[in-house]
Amino acid sequence: MLTISNVLDRSLYEAARLPLLEAEPLPPWCYTSDDFYKAEVENIFLKTWNFGGRVEMLPETGSYMTFSFVGIPLLFVRDRDGKIKGFLNSCRHRGTPVALGCGKSQMFSCPYHAWTFATDGRLVSAPGMQDVPNFKLRDHALIPVRVDTWKGFFFFAFDEKAPPLSTHLGNIGEHLDSYGFDDMVMTRRVEWDLKSNWKAYVENAMEAYHTPTVHKDSIGLQVCNVVDSTGQWLGLHEEHDGTEAVLDDDASRAFPFIKGLNGLAAKGTYFALIYPSTMLGCTRDCAWWIELQPSGPARTKVISGSMFPKSTAALPDFEQRVQPYYRRWDKSLPEDNRVSELQQEGLTPYFKTSSRLSTLEPLVHTIGNWVLDRVVK
Ligand code: FES
Ligand SMILES: [Fe+2]
Repeated sequence: MLTISNVLDRSLYEAARLPLLEAEPLPPWCYTSDDFYKAEVENIFLKTWNFGGRVEMLPETGSYMTFSFVGIPLLFVRDRDGKIKGFLNSCRHRGTPVALGCGKSQMFSCPYHAWTFATDGRLVSAPGMQDVPNFKLRDHALIPVRVDTWKGFFFFAFDEKAPPLSTHLGNIGEHLDSYGFDDMVMTRRVEWDLKSNWKAYVENAMEAYHTPTVHKDSIGLQVCNVVDSTGQWLGLHEEHDGTEAVLDDDASRAFPFIKGLNGLAAKGTYFALIYPSTMLGCTRDCAWWIELQPSGPARTKVISGSMFPKSTAALPDFEQRVQPYYRRWDKSLPEDNRVSELQQEGLTPYFKTSSRLSTLEPLVHTIGNWVLDRVVK
């Protein structure tokens, strides 16, 4: 029986720090411990850029969406200047969310005492507060979070000191620009609530060791190579013919390839991780993303969006022809979801275990060490 008084003690991680073929995976408590999760929230998610969504989810002035990210309620809204603004979705009076779900509104009136905020976060009215000395509306705007965009995606950051999103993304454009994400449209978005740690999901997405077993009834074996990356992202590339986004039986019914693909993009499929928890699949005719919204050491919301070139989505028979793509994702993504939950079920922090990583898991090692670099100082 193992008892660990301080999961942030760096001496616990010496084996995980060794080179790949000598290293152990992260110990189980990294996936189960409240203390480790809290340290990840404070040192990773609150410090860096996180994925918000596609800009077309907020198409018009006043379009808004809300969600909770690592326990923090957030509101994103298209402001009158055309930009997406982000705020804590927490009334500056006594904290009630000022908006729920998603929709369109030019004002956000708190359901509790009706303090009302504009789309730029300003408090514009606070009924009944006129007799309160020194109360000024301008002192009580919604707390902003940083928002920036890349190729039709928007990201947010809590930390003013986080380097710009473009720095975070490093050389990702050299690999992925030719997909033309900003000329794509989201055609479907699906959510799942998993009893799994966010790292279990990310690690799974970035190794091909599991594909012949977990995906034996769908996509099967994948042979991937790690690509060169600078900045806060990692990439795998799989060389193959055709598209990766339909199962073999449907291969003959694929959409036209994206025009202008170059480099490795023209030769197969990229699987990318934008740290900490956004994944992209990019193949010859479409792309998809997977974003994670952790809410505890063993709770993660998984959201996947499908994207096609606007010209493809405009085809008159798109809805019919896209069905094999949705079938593929509806089969393969739940396979990954299930194995992440299964792994979580098997992890116990109470026994000392040791293991090793395979040659097919270099990025599991890289990701684990990236986390340790930030969490265990
Ligand atoms: S909590 Fe929002 S108006 Fe009181
Ligand atoms: Fe998988």
